Amino acid sequence: MRLSDDFISEVKYRNDLGELAASYMQLKRRGRNLVGLCPFHGEKTPSFNIYTENGSFYCFGCGTGGDVITFIMKIENLDYLEAVKFLAQRAGMSMPEDDYDDSMSRLRTRIYEANREAARFFYQKLGEREGAEGLAYLRGRGLADTTIRHFGLGFAPDSRFSLGDYLLSKGFTEAELIAANLVFKSRSGRGVVDRFYNRVMFPIIDVRGNVIAFGGRIMTDQKPKYLNTSDTIVFNKSYNLFSLNNAKNSKSRAFILCEGYMDVISLNQAGFTQAIATLGTALTMDQATLLKRYCDEVIVCYDADEAGQKATARAISILRSAGLVVRVLRIPDGKDPDEFIRRHGDKGHAAFKNLLESSGNDVEYRMYQLRSGFDMTTPQGRLGYLNEGVKLLSELDNPMERDIYASKLADETDVAKPSIMEQVNRLTRRKTSARRKENFKKIQRDLSARDDRVNPQHADNLRAVTAEENLIAFLINNPDKLGHIDGNLKPENFITEFNRKLYVYFYKRIKNGQEPMTSVSADFTADEVSKIYRIVNSYSSIGSTPQALDEYISIILAEGSKLTSRDIANASADDLDAYLKKLAEQKK
Ligand code: UTP
Ligand code: MN
Repeated sequence: MRLSDDFISEVKYRNDLGELAASYMQLKRRGRNLVGLCPFHGEKTPSFNIYTENGSFYCFGCGTGGDVITFIMKIENLDYLEAVKFLAQRAGMSMPEDDYDDSMSRLRTRIYEANREAARFFYQKLGEREGAEGLAYLRGRGLADTTIRHFGLGFAPDSRFSLGDYLLSKGFTEAELIAANLVFKSRSGRGVVDRFYNRVMFPIIDVRGNVIAFGGRIMTDQKPKYLNTSDTIVFNKSYNLFSLNNAKNSKSRAFILCEGYMDVISLNQAGFTQAIATLGTALTMDQATLLKRYCDEVIVCYDADEAGQKATARAISILRSAGLVVRVLRIPDGKDPDEFIRRHGDKGHAAFKNLLESSGNDVEYRMYQLRSGFDMTTPQGRLGYLNEGVKLLSELDNPMERDIYASKLADETDVAKPSIMEQVNRLTRRKTSARRKENFKKIQRDLSARDDRVNPQHADNLRAVTAEENLIAFLINNPDKLGHIDGNLKPENFITEFNRKLYVYFYKRIKNGQEPMTSVSADFTADEVSKIYRIVNSYSSIGSTPQALDEYISIILAEGSKLTSRDIANASADDLDAYLKKLAEQKK
């Protein structure tokens, strides 16, 4: 199934990329373009560019590029059709009916529906005799009925068929339920069996309100304690967060990051709706980037045990590199936020609020952690702490922050602040210059060929690839020159297969009278789309005169007639003769 070019053009025309992107990120005007911090990877200096002339974007940091549809696909985690639908709705357009039902998109919709139906089923069970044990468990953990309803908690009965049978009777197919990871194919090969049974159920809901997965807790101390939905086509545990749908609507821009479902739910019950948790894995960069869209600050509130503290250190560095302000909350002689709140009963809210307010920022936390590793009563201990502390300070980007903590370090070690600052500055300078070099290398690497996944022949054909890409950029910007190009260069003449594929694609579209770029984001993979937009947006910096065009053509032809050393090794004597003759002719 395919949407018409006309429809896609209209959707793009009615959704200005710059305007749309501005609702997700801060953008500054630079000449004709807009620049900002890339929403698709963590960075501190802006490499994300929006080209207002052709409605596209490209990030020189992570190499992501595309049009307004690609942008929405990435930032809202949608597939192509969903993104088009999203943009069409935004512009008040309706989707052409028949076209929409692409099979993948349909399967996603069915999985959402099956999950929603399953959540309803589990919730319903709590009110029935079969689920009495589950309800008692949840109430026993201090949850009010309103909280249970708010989170849509439920119970999966102690039978291997109850959910599966129910959903089949509602018209879902076995294949759909398997794809949703709600059931498995049974061992006997006949029918399906439930994934979740005899557990209290926690639905995981995304920011758009879809039920995308479940966590199920066993009510005894058997293992595994929690069983979660495996990744499906609607759920990736490293990309989503528990209760982000609630946190997003809270007034706070400082979210509380916990380890567990129960922590988040208890915090919500105590009035802290800005609580969220990862889904049984360590925090990922994707999750931090996602968070950055909804908050400015994250208070890490992991368990007080050793594992929790290790995870805290990791989370701090990930959150920081996503550009978030980080604080760390320590729960005094307790295990996790859920237990802390329960222990304080009616005063749970006030007690936790106190903790929140006294939670130190991440630097204080890390200094505290460092210091506790040294015996501060001995000179050696103080010196050790001083050395580590100076290293820590030198990693801070903000000079004011460095200054404040240098004072603290000076107080704690009884060393004069100026000499601490001197050390810190020396390290910082060394680091800045290392970082600058690293950045430069990265840009070079990006521009160069070694890591070119999309065009693996790039590295071996530098000159040819540059000419091919310039020619393609030229063609897209000057479709009227197709005749001239076609008269001098055939697709076979392209050296690299990927560029040949691009050339043929644009060639056909232009021949058919279609605008070259309209459906690129439907017709290529995400990496290819990024690459294409990189090529297109380099147009302003390449030679764009007719002479330049002829130069590109002649480079491609010349590179094509060159033999590589591998060719020579494999060539027969006759082939080599013919080749030498051809070279001699070219010279004349
Ligand atoms: P914890 O073991 O700290 O559990 O796991 P908890 O949240 O305190 O749970 P309760 O209070 O005993 O009910 C933290 C989180 O790690 C994931 C879950 O997301 C859990 O909320 N986890 C834990 C699993 O996915 N599987 C497990 O077997 C255990
Ligand atoms: Mn717990």
